[in-house]
Amino acid sequence: MKYSKTFVALNKTIHDRATFDCGNKELNNFLQRHAFRHMKVGVSKTMVLPASKNLSNQKYPICSFYTVAPSSIQRDSLPQELSKSLPHYPVPVFLIAQLAVNKKVQGQQLGKITLIKALEFLWQINKKMSAYAVVVDCINESVENFYKQYGFHYLCKNHGKTRMFIPMKTVKQLFVDNG
Ligand SMILES: CC(C)(COP(=O)(O)OP(=O)(O)OC[C@H]1O[C@@H](n2cnc3c(N)ncnc32)[C@H](O)[C@@H]1OP(=O)(O)O)[C@@H](O)C(=O)NCCC(=O)NCCS
Repeated sequence: MKYSKTFVALNKTIHDRATFDCGNKELNNFLQRHAFRHMKVGVSKTMVLPASKNLSNQKYPICSFYTVAPSSIQRDSLPQELSKSLPHYPVPVFLIAQLAVNKKVQGQQLGKITLIKALEFLWQINKKMSAYAVVVDCINESVENFYKQYGFHYLCKNHGKTRMFIPMKTVKQLFVDNG
């Protein structure tokens, strides 16, 4: 499966959600049943990388996707050296709520590309409305290692999942510009 060049907002009439399989039921289910509706009601945004060729139903398979949303964390969940300069009310962050790659194209650096694109998307938003960090809830220990290699650190446990974070000032270093 060859993928197209750009991530676009999920559109249920154009993108074939039913054929997406990343190997994780929860994530497949989110993309197939909830992602579009959540965008419609304004609680998150899902961006997909479509395949370059459509199926017989005219829709494009989804190679990978990410879902982001505004969120907040408690100041005290951060290491003290970071928390000491922050206010005592909840600290604004961006959440990578979901991120997954279709099994058909896993192991080809698309997970890395999808994460970088998600961070770039959030960095652009951060230029207009700042958040302190980007957080992600990992579905298992192996995924923690995936995020660790790109500079994410342990934050806390959140509903049984490990929550990791990367400060926005670190994200900035990836996309330095004059903005
Ligand atoms: C985790 C996932 C996104 C990785 O995508 P992928 O396209 O297979 O990974 P990539 O090819 O981009 O891998 C990039 C690097 O991460 C490493 N990596 C990939 N999956 C990993 C994992 N689960 N744990 C640790 N490292 C991982 C690769 O070895 C590679 O390292 P390298 O650059 O040194 O070779 C993908 O396997 C997936 O969608 N899994 C199911 C859903 C999921 O777990 N999503 C995470 C939600 S929290």
